[in-house]
Amino acid sequence: MAFAENAQLGVAYGLSLVSYWAQKRPRPFSASFAVTNKCNLRCHYCNTPFLDPNDLPLDEVGVIFGKLRRMGVQRLGLLGGEPLVRRDLVDMISMAKRMGFYVSVNSNLNLYSRRPEAFDQVDLVMTSLDGDADHHRANRGEKSYDGVLEAIVDLRSRGKPLMAIAVVTENNLDQPEKLIQQAEELDFQIHFQPQCMDTDIVRGGIAEDLQDEELRRFWADLLVQKKRGRPIASSVAYLEAQSRWRDFRVSAFEDPGVRCAAGRGFLYVDPQGRAYPCAYTKGKCEPIDMLAGDWQEDWSGKTPCSTCNVGPMLEFNLLYTKPLSASLAALSRIT
Ligand SMILES: C[S@@+](CC[C@H](N)C(=O)[O-])C[C@H]1O[C@@H](n2cnc3c(N)ncnc32)[C@H](O)[C@@H]1O
Ligand code: SF4
Repeated sequence: MAFAENAQLGVAYGLSLVSYWAQKRPRPFSASFAVTNKCNLRCHYCNTPFLDPNDLPLDEVGVIFGKLRRMGVQRLGLLGGEPLVRRDLVDMISMAKRMGFYVSVNSNLNLYSRRPEAFDQVDLVMTSLDGDADHHRANRGEKSYDGVLEAIVDLRSRGKPLMAIAVVTENNLDQPEKLIQQAEELDFQIHFQPQCMDTDIVRGGIAEDLQDEELRRFWADLLVQKKRGRPIASSVAYLEAQSRWRDFRVSAFEDPGVRCAAGRGFLYVDPQGRAYPCAYTKGKCEPIDMLAGDWQEDWSGKTPCSTCNVGPMLEFNLLYTKPLSASLAALSRIT
């Protein structure tokens, strides 16, 4: 990433942090926009393809991007569903880049070979990799591995920064070493996240015979690998929190006295333009219509939970609750 882009992200995060600590108006520095709920796959743990299939037209997406930019958002994550099923994805990315966002795109990459140019302007590609072909398919379905490794190799040969997300389930507890080795060979980062449950965008749950103790050991082992300098994107603080998580069947709960940074540091906008503090809170609180309303003015400031182990949310939250260690970790990744 260019120095200027790093600096812009740092400034946006810093301003957001100040407003979070001073309990001023919410000033998120990062937003996720689900460009569509539609998807070419049906992963066992994901409910997105079964949600509202209506997408906003590009001009209305542009109105929302403009509002996000004006409230201070610098980092824009485009996800889904599967973003590559939207024909105007390239136009959307170009629009976001013209507006000055740092843009990441989460894609399963199965459709990559049809439109590799879709990623030309993307700053960070995020994909899904749950293990070798068999283990990946066990979590994500028969055709889910098709073209993924080829796409990763191509993207890396084009110099695109890439992070793979592995969702930890009973099917892939023995897969981290293979995934980490693959990340070393193909030169990408890997982030591990627990299977989260009990919200609109997910389905299913952890196998009944899988014990919390086994999962805690899994995360503690990953922490050891992280400290050895393996290419694990998940932060040390995040891995420590996962290795202490009490009940992996409860992804989030209200903990009196604990503040969550969702809505203040980051937010989520669904494909119909409804904004929530984070993706996990969809269906659990009243959204703000981003076309008609104003997040900073209209949001109640309340989240339905305050503590969670949901992959991206926990990492984002740590940026606000442990800013020093999070900033040093980020610095060590880019220097
Ligand atoms: C919703 S997907 C969207 C992007 C794209 N379709 C993909 O699969 O990479 C974003 C990430 O969330 C992960 N995910 C889906 N359901 C999940 C769950 N129940 N718990 C944790 N992560 C989940 C997916 O594996 C993926 O890496
Ligand atoms: S995780 Fe991604 S690829 Fe799988 S069903 Fe959900 S949106 Fe589609």
